[in-house]
Amino acid sequence: MTTMESLIGLVNRIQRACTVLGDYGGADGNSFNSLWEALPSVAVVGGQSSGKSSVLESIVGRDFLPRGSGIVTRRPLVLQLHKVESGTQEYAEFLHLPRRKFTDFALVRQEIQDETDRVTGKSKQISPIPIHLSIYSANVVNLTLIDLPGLTKVAVEGQSESIVQDIEAMVRSYVEKPNSIILAVSPANQDIATSDAIKLAREVDPTGERTFGVLTKLDLMDKGTNALDVLEGRSYRLQHPWVGIVNRSQSDINKNVDMIVARRKEREYFATSPDYGHLANKMGSEYLAKLLSKHLESVIKARIPSITSLINKSIEELESEMDHLGRPIALDAGAQLYTILELCRAFERIFKEHLDGGRPGGDR
Ligand code: GDP
Ligand code: NA
Ligand code: MG
Repeated sequence: MTTMESLIGLVNRIQRACTVLGDYGGADGNSFNSLWEALPSVAVVGGQSSGKSSVLESIVGRDFLPRGSGIVTRRPLVLQLHKVESGTQEYAEFLHLPRRKFTDFALVRQEIQDETDRVTGKSKQISPIPIHLSIYSANVVNLTLIDLPGLTKVAVEGQSESIVQDIEAMVRSYVEKPNSIILAVSPANQDIATSDAIKLAREVDPTGERTFGVLTKLDLMDKGTNALDVLEGRSYRLQHPWVGIVNRSQSDINKNVDMIVARRKEREYFATSPDYGHLANKMGSEYLAKLLSKHLESVIKARIPSITSLINKSIEELESEMDHLGRPIALDAGAQLYTILELCRAFERIFKEHLDGGRPGGDR
């Protein structure tokens, strides 16, 4: 791993440890919250069924999210991808089920559904309480991604009248934070001028510096039309290039077309397309994943000074908290404090090596 990969990996693990600690309710209003806020994450926004969950799955390269028509995603899902050494068995772990390693990703999907229902009931209600999931794999880039309920215009049977505003408020609370990178997902078979994702992104990020425009469902456009005006930035200009995507259709999902095949089909779609052939190497989910991780890297690089100073502050606070606690209230909370402290120290150390032009590759 490169130094930058090690640093981003550490940032990821610090974020996770802060979350675990926050879950014990022990660390309100101190520097852990500021530390979490200083670290970037990617929030996926868009209208219902625009393809948000599908895009996330493609980035991860795994089938594990509930998907489909209607309101499927009803709680925020904070998904942390941790890159591990190759040869390591890939697994997932929920914050609410510590110590249980999921190697069967169909069970991950089931658990997301069950855990959603536990809080919202089997209704179509939503809840702002996030589900935290970590995936450890050699095939991912270090990223924190947040899947959110889709923006809607009308309440359906069984939902309260306020649901439209509730969803918008929930999504807004994630994307208005300056550390949030916005993945604004719009389907190509609808007019971009009516895109909920772009409307919200434009409000919270008027300069477009932290918004990535993603255009899904290119395969579902009417024959004889294409999305070049959007993809080439003429319809709505963003600072980052637009990325076109072809996810699996519902019938692909029903037929269990797997991710590897889907990615290959997506690549072929662009490579052989008369409309998009000239953009082929800048389209598709694999390209999007790389683009995001490169962006994340540059954001973290730029923030290293403020992150290290927050980390130093956290180290001081942690040390004094450990002194005070003597015996921690909850054993696990104590263990988490130690973990964060160690991770913070590791970040500092690797960062110093980086500054000193230390060994390439860090030590991981
Ligand atoms: P979400 O509600 O925004 O999370 O959307 P989902 O990812 O659940 O997708 C909604 C439906 O659209 C599913 O049936 C997907 O199979 C389908 N879908 C998503 N993206 C595409 C795409 O690029 N092409 C096609 N043909 N179908 C897609
Ligand atoms: Na959906
Ligand atoms: Mg979804």
